Amino acid sequence: MCGIVGIVSTTPVAERIVDALKRLEYRGYDSAGLATSVGGEIDRRRAPGKLTNLRERLEQSPLDGTIGIGHTRWATHGAPTEENAHPHTTNRVAIVHNGIIENFRELKKELDKDGYQPVSETDTEIVALMVTRELDRGAAPFDAAANVIKRLEGAFALAMMFKGEDNLIVGARQGAPLAIGHGDNEMILGSDAIAIAPFTDKVTYLEEGDWVAITKDDARIFNREGQPVQRAMAQTQLGVNMVDKGNHRHFMLKEIYEQPDAISHTVSHYLDLANGKVKLPAKLPFDFKSLNRLTISACGTAFYAGLVAKYWFEKYARLPVEVDVASEFRYREPPMDADGLALFISQSGETADTLAALRYCKAQGQHIASIVNAQESTIARESDIVFPIQCGPEISVASTKATTAQLSVLASLAIAAGRQRGTISEAEEFELVDMLAKLPGAITKALASEDKIDQISHALSKADDVLYLGRGSLFPIALEGALKLKEITYIHAEGYASGELKHGPIALIDETLPVVVVAPSDQLFDKTISNMHEVAARGGKIILITDEAGAKSAGDDVSEIIIVPDAHEFVMPIICAIPVQLLAYHTAVFMGTDVDQPRNLAKSVTVE
Ligand code: F6R
Repeated sequence: MCGIVGIVSTTPVAERIVDALKRLEYRGYDSAGLATSVGGEIDRRRAPGKLTNLRERLEQSPLDGTIGIGHTRWATHGAPTEENAHPHTTNRVAIVHNGIIENFRELKKELDKDGYQPVSETDTEIVALMVTRELDRGAAPFDAAANVIKRLEGAFALAMMFKGEDNLIVGARQGAPLAIGHGDNEMILGSDAIAIAPFTDKVTYLEEGDWVAITKDDARIFNREGQPVQRAMAQTQLGVNMVDKGNHRHFMLKEIYEQPDAISHTVSHYLDLANGKVKLPAKLPFDFKSLNRLTISACGTAFYAGLVAKYWFEKYARLPVEVDVASEFRYREPPMDADGLALFISQSGETADTLAALRYCKAQGQHIASIVNAQESTIARESDIVFPIQCGPEISVASTKATTAQLSVLASLAIAAGRQRGTISEAEEFELVDMLAKLPGAITKALASEDKIDQISHALSKADDVLYLGRGSLFPIALEGALKLKEITYIHAEGYASGELKHGPIALIDETLPVVVVAPSDQLFDKTISNMHEVAARGGKIILITDEAGAKSAGDDVSEIIIVPDAHEFVMPIICAIPVQLLAYHTAVFMGTDVDQPRNLAKSVTVE
């Protein structure tokens, strides 16, 4: 998660870009950089570390110019050095970028053949070289950018300026945020409205797949197909905490849409993407190899993340896992082997039951690890090691991006445990890491089902009860789907392991009961399909969440299908979390409930 800014103006921009970067420092501060252009000649300054280092460099060696792009970096590909800092430039273009270009290795090979060699380790420089190759082949800047943008895969936002063009910045958004600020005789690009707010309150949020050409007088926006499109201009209403809803109606939807960006930030923190390895942010105070058991405690959605992790740790690290809701665990007085590892998952880091479970485990001589969002929280402070989820503040009471970020951290830890315990090879680690690196792109694709889900939600809103079914690591996602629906629509919903259907809940099924089945085409698919037929035979209405192959073989019993992108079963729980979030969200919006602050709930539950 990096921050990007671009300004095309009639007045000097360098200082203002640095001010805007200051407001984006929450997105990363491994290095910062700025490029401006005077008389068509691009010049840049970069510095590792916080923005103050860049400021010092600019004091010694200022930059003029009425056009510029700036960047504050959270390192993904390559160490936080000056060489890897943005903007990345060639003799023809300068680029800043946030996110991950998934196909950079293929593109790099292609450039190698044509004699274009990067000097940094970043995926961003590959984009700069691709654009340069287009320009060298005779394309105009605008067309060169367009040709390259359509070849990039992954979740990213970027901004670029060109040698010889003092009145053009091209920006693109795919899975990571980018907004346009409409100033007086100037146009601004920024990762969010917070960066843009000091210059103007007129903001246009780009949509997925959009790209834009800004000059000081106008902004021309194009969709993924390259067709010109109009996007509404909004008045920003930044709250006291400088957190706003963007162009979304609710924080929950904003946070759902932040997931590609948030998860790319999370995985960058835990993965060495260039080498395909897990890199843990700190030295572990325990050794996965010598553990006999991992004990996970959490509440609500965080508990379901722990349930998914059980499947991962047991399968990939052959490490037995016990997971319990913290409110039960704390009073069970479970016996614990000395030197065991207890892991607590909490977005807020303040949940009373989770904290009490942590204190119990500490008294039992356990190593205490926590996965939190709020790093200053009590749970974080009382842990021996903290694994931050790095997804930014979550405002909506119903957890969305924190859940998928928790899952991403847990998946990374399971791979690390597998490597330490010798249950996965280096090659398997590479493959699993690659799957996590591709998650932001897959989540972006999963979000594309929103319109379909919106339609389905109209019928769902009429139900009194809804059943969610899933098997294996998708069973907890069925539980999560039911919880999300309950908490924001107040419709009664239950999540069940598909195999449990015959052992009771099948009695509920009649033509009034919608059944949401989470079943991509994995090795358990046929078994779940059999359960689906049992539901259909009794008149139940099936809403199937599956991939393309699953959709083809699901048969005629299904009322509605929501397609998720094809992916390995390892990452499917994270991808399938997206449609269940959207289904709950749209049902709640259709019913007119208070989505962000549902009745009787609180974001941080600091009492038992
Ligand atoms: C559901 C939800 C809650 C929380 C639970 C734990 O959408 O948000 O179930 O997951 O209250 O909260 P934290 O993670 O702050 O400990």
